[in-house]
Amino acid sequence: MVSRMRTRHFAQAKAEGRKISCLTAYDAPTAAIFDEAGIDLLLVGDSAANVILGQDSTLSITVEEMMTMATAVARATARAFVVSDLPFGSYETSPAQALETAVRFMKQTGIAGVKIEGGVEIAPTIRTLVDAGIPVMGHIGYTPQSEHTLGGYVVQGRGDAAAKLRADALAVQEAGAFSVVLEMVPAAIAGEISRELAIPTIGIGAGNGTDGQVLVWTDAFGLTRGRTPRFARRYADVGNVLLDAARAYLADVESGDFPNEAESFEDGK
Ligand code: KIV
Repeated sequence: MVSRMRTRHFAQAKAEGRKISCLTAYDAPTAAIFDEAGIDLLLVGDSAANVILGQDSTLSITVEEMMTMATAVARATARAFVVSDLPFGSYETSPAQALETAVRFMKQTGIAGVKIEGGVEIAPTIRTLVDAGIPVMGHIGYTPQSEHTLGGYVVQGRGDAAAKLRADALAVQEAGAFSVVLEMVPAAIAGEISRELAIPTIGIGAGNGTDGQVLVWTDAFGLTRGRTPRFARRYADVGNVLLDAARAYLADVESGDFPNEAESFEDGK
């Protein structure tokens, strides 16, 4: 039996200079495959709004939608540490609101921790969740739930803004987060912050100096049709595999080749 990843294993990985692998996951079959591959942490990201539910932004996804996916991912994994995003509107009002939402996720889905976006301003909320025994992953830099405040999908932490990024990272660490995602920030500053922090940093579009990497799996493995971020290396072309399979099935149905005798039942059997 494989043993489950715990927050201490991430701290250990950082101390020993081992990189941490993370992918998003939104359903049981893909989560089981990523778990079997040995991915350390599966993130039920609210990117599901875009890449699974076909929405324009992460803002509209609901707690119930996220909880359904989180339950499926947690059920399907034996080793990976499973974290779910708390969706927009479910935690920002107060630490008490965040705690109520996070407790629902922890009780009902089987996940091991939650991720919330924000730096200095969200630190008291992180502290409340951590004090209640809930592992928290921070998320700073480009934070999709604040896309309208940030002026769209743009790199954060350039020039003078690096000081704010550093302050956010330290606040998240001080509040007790077990790790922090750095999204779309210059590689140099991400590397510096990673060296300064005691907790592991997980980068996405943040260069090679972070303690781990995360990618949205549909971008990395070719299910996303259309544009993908330039930092998302393409490891497979799952979209075209499915397209070819669907076309082959269509052709067999139309020609009458499917189903054949072996794929049919005889009378009385
Ligand atoms: O929702 C998500 O997929 C994320 C990753 C981009 C880190 O937050």
